[in-house]
Amino acid sequence: MADALTIQPDLEFIREVTENSGGDLKKCMQCATCSAVCSLSTESRPFPRQQVLKAQWGMSEQLTGDPAIWLCHDCGDCTARCPRGARPSAVMDALRMAAIRRLAFPRFMGSMIGRRENGAIMFLFSALLLLSVAKLPAFHTAARPLIFADMFPVSRLEMFFYIVSAFVVLVLAISAARFIKELRSAGARGAILPSLLPALIEIFLHRRFAGCEAGKVRRWGHLGVLFGFIGLATASTVLGVEMHLGWMVTPMPLLYPLKMIANLCAVVFAVGVSILIWNRLADREKRVGSSFCDWYFLSLLGGIGLTGILSETLRLAQSPDWMYSIYYIHLSLVLTLFLSTPYSKFVHFLYRTIAMAATWQESKSTGRVQLAAGGPDAALPEGPGLPHAIGMRS
Ligand code: HEM
Ligand code: SF4
Ligand code: SF4
Repeated sequence: MADALTIQPDLEFIREVTENSGGDLKKCMQCATCSAVCSLSTESRPFPRQQVLKAQWGMSEQLTGDPAIWLCHDCGDCTARCPRGARPSAVMDALRMAAIRRLAFPRFMGSMIGRRENGAIMFLFSALLLLSVAKLPAFHTAARPLIFADMFPVSRLEMFFYIVSAFVVLVLAISAARFIKELRSAGARGAILPSLLPALIEIFLHRRFAGCEAGKVRRWGHLGVLFGFIGLATASTVLGVEMHLGWMVTPMPLLYPLKMIANLCAVVFAVGVSILIWNRLADREKRVGSSFCDWYFLSLLGGIGLTGILSETLRLAQSPDWMYSIYYIHLSLVLTLFLSTPYSKFVHFLYRTIAMAATWQESKSTGRVQLAAGGPDAALPEGPGLPHAIGMRS
């Protein structure tokens, strides 16, 4: 007789995922319609049925190291077709958030920042922290032309963001190492470094977004956000270097090439975020699982885009009453995004890239998931409930 498999369910994990996915975990009857519907599920790594089942069983460690939760694009196709209303896409989303909390360093920050009640606190904390580099009393009476450096001297602001960036990069490196360790212990053996380049090419081309109906619009939104963001980050870095070398003083003339590129990227970024926000609002039926973390991340990006464009417009209009306060809000939002990167949905850029690289070889060698018996998904029990071979202890 085969050995019985003993599972020690993580009850706190079951509670967390149930709560964040809308309380529908128990509705799943393991029909596997979701895995068949999903255009990204493959024979070698079928999802989301397995993940819903493992979530029911509270297998937190296996799920934290399961790359499949990061291969899912949250398109909602599986939720739309689930005959039991179990909302598998919301379960996958909740599993990603649970993984972010477990992989975060330090761990308590992961649990703190994902909570609704702490969203505003994070913003207030960033706003207060920024005051440490502000030149408050003088800026409002500054001689024209008014510039933002009256309030935030460039050298102070640069030093401040260098320190914050170094902290964030260190924390991200620790989280990435933790994720790779979890991937290995959950059985993902694919070499990551050699597959990084092809995975990145696929990410930049956004092929997987186009694989499902809902993803076609989001593809354009994500392309705009990703490339707008990369463009803006690159332009700020180049500007910082130019200023250090004494080649440039701010504000840059509107027709300076770097300024034109930065403005173009800002527009692309803002259009991308608007598409994503509109798509989430318009697609309520499929996406009843949109969580606080989804909206927190989108709102931060939307706020950054809006206040960034407003700041520049108000500076051009030389409006002392508004330009400094809007710029201050803009910087506070940017700092909130930076500081919460390892603990918010933003960190998906890291875990998704690693997961895609780790599964790159297998995804190229196998086809779409087959529902017929014999595929790896068949290794899991069919039908509702638990198999007799499994003894559960709570
Ligand atoms: C570089 C690797 C990246 C990959 C592989 C990636 C992939 C994805 C995928 C698959 C989704 C859809 C799933 C979901 O909503 O949870 C998504 C969502 C999103 N990503 Fe990325 N992303 C990357 C980087 C970035 C960056 C750098 C940004 C922006 C600064 C960004 C912004 C967003 C936003 C705003 C959403 C939410 C879309 C929505 O709410 O509908 N991504 N990303
Ligand atoms: S009942 Fe379960 S297995 Fe069937 S489609 Fe819904 S989530 Fe997937
Ligand atoms: S949300 Fe889309 S990508 Fe994710 S499991 Fe469901 S069908 Fe697949």
